[in-house]
Amino acid sequence: MPILTIESTCDETAAAVINDDGTVLGECIATQELLHEKFRGVVPEIAARAHVERILPVIDTAIKKAGVKPSDLSAIAVADRPGLAGSLLVGVVAAKALALAWNKPLVAINHLHAHLYACQLAVDVPVYPCIGLVVSGGHTSLYHCTSPLDLEYLGGTIDDAAGEAFDKVAAMLSLGFPGGPAVSALAASGNPKAYDFPRSMIHKPNFDFSFSGLKTAVRYAIVGPGQTDFSKLKLADQTKADVCASFEAAVVDVLVNKSRKAVQKYDVKRLIVGGGVAANRKLRDGLQSAADSVGFDLTIAPMNLCTDNAVMGAIALEKIKRGEFASYDLDVTPGLQR
Ligand code: KG4
Ligand code: ZN
Repeated sequence: MPILTIESTCDETAAAVINDDGTVLGECIATQELLHEKFRGVVPEIAARAHVERILPVIDTAIKKAGVKPSDLSAIAVADRPGLAGSLLVGVVAAKALALAWNKPLVAINHLHAHLYACQLAVDVPVYPCIGLVVSGGHTSLYHCTSPLDLEYLGGTIDDAAGEAFDKVAAMLSLGFPGGPAVSALAASGNPKAYDFPRSMIHKPNFDFSFSGLKTAVRYAIVGPGQTDFSKLKLADQTKADVCASFEAAVVDVLVNKSRKAVQKYDVKRLIVGGGVAANRKLRDGLQSAADSVGFDLTIAPMNLCTDNAVMGAIALEKIKRGEFASYDLDVTPGLQR
């Protein structure tokens, strides 16, 4: 019997109906990009209100596309952590209401574990045990994963997430939101060695990251200290492209370096990578080169499952196999879950 999965941790409202063998029967995602674009970042209050408007039509569409009835569902799964409190609340309340109304068991999903599970959905071989790298707008973390549900946190960003840095650099260059795709598109025609941006913490013997210094270095490269009005900035197209390429190279260097070290230290055979920034072409290429030279297998989430979606909620099937259900008084846990 299929399950219904619900995702509303940030600014994507998504639902999917997934068979117990992992087949996706129906899926729907409503993005909020246009609502947040003019603010150059996700505004939590706007995100929560938009989720309220979209959640039921999105669930309804996923169920209709799947051609199932509510009575056909075996469970309802929802991402309850981590994320924006107001956004999470909408998905969790919807899931609880439907679970009660339809008399279905409830399953709670850790959104970061689900980002990594997207890699398992891409291949037929088991990807666990492995090192998992989550790189998204809100998170940059490394895990030692012994199973889809048993993850040891090794380290993560102590300030900005990698995706957040992409979004901030895009905002400085007026490239729109979300910034990752725009920055990497422009970077393609730039020189990655034009600016010597910092690779913070790259040589530290731990698995933490820091991207705020890099963001500040980009800012000082394009405007004077203290200048905040980026809209009046007049930069040549080639300069913008060089800034993007040099910034992207710095982010990729650090992510590849630390991931490689984690694989070597924990002596695992595979690295898996999920989250919005995993869609970045230079990162995918850099990780593949590291995998080829060190000799480990690399599985990156498929492009359509890098950014937030409900299909990666198939991780709920693993919880169901273990009999791990949530109670109907499930609450949201917005803070970073290690
Ligand atoms: O996983 P996601 O949809 O949301 C969070 O859970 O945070 O990730 C969104 C982030 C944004 O910061 C976006 O700029 C970044 O992923 N992103 C990219 C690319 N595509 C999306 N960053 C770099 N290169 C890309 N191609
Ligand atoms: Zn995410």
